[in-house]
Amino acid sequence: MLNIVTLGDERLKKHSILVPDLDGEIKSLIEQMFETMHANKGIGLAAVQVGKLIRLFITHLPKDAPRVFINPEVIETSVDQGSFEEGCLSIPEVNADVIRSKHVKVQAWNDKGRPLSMDVDDFLARVIQHEIDHLNGVLFIDRIDPKKRERLVRQYENISTG
Ligand code: NI
Repeated sequence: MLNIVTLGDERLKKHSILVPDLDGEIKSLIEQMFETMHANKGIGLAAVQVGKLIRLFITHLPKDAPRVFINPEVIETSVDQGSFEEGCLSIPEVNADVIRSKHVKVQAWNDKGRPLSMDVDDFLARVIQHEIDHLNGVLFIDRIDPKKRERLVRQYENISTG
């Protein structure tokens, strides 16, 4: 099990770097990330959230297969947007509605290091956009009204300091 980096840690604001290749170390990190995500009942987890500043994230949505995205790039986003409530393992117990594109086309390497290209929509498209934001140092609360963000951050600080 890996420790999850939480709000206030400067690493969450950093830009992650490309993964040079899918070696044994990265494969074992991916396994540990799945264990950590499942244990925390998450559906998506970026490497930066376990302190590794590399461009890699995993997803495991209900009724979907576990997925690995290495060096992901969104190459198309729909103008069509939707709003839905999000949360994040790095900001436990905080949720907010976030507006995002409904459809995206994403390219990445999969868990075998092979190139993948996917057209995704709905919830998976949302989770992918949320996780790619992590790789660029952006949190879902950065995408909401600043006043609301301040309120949520205070709420989080009250929870986390007991
Ligand atoms: Ni997150």
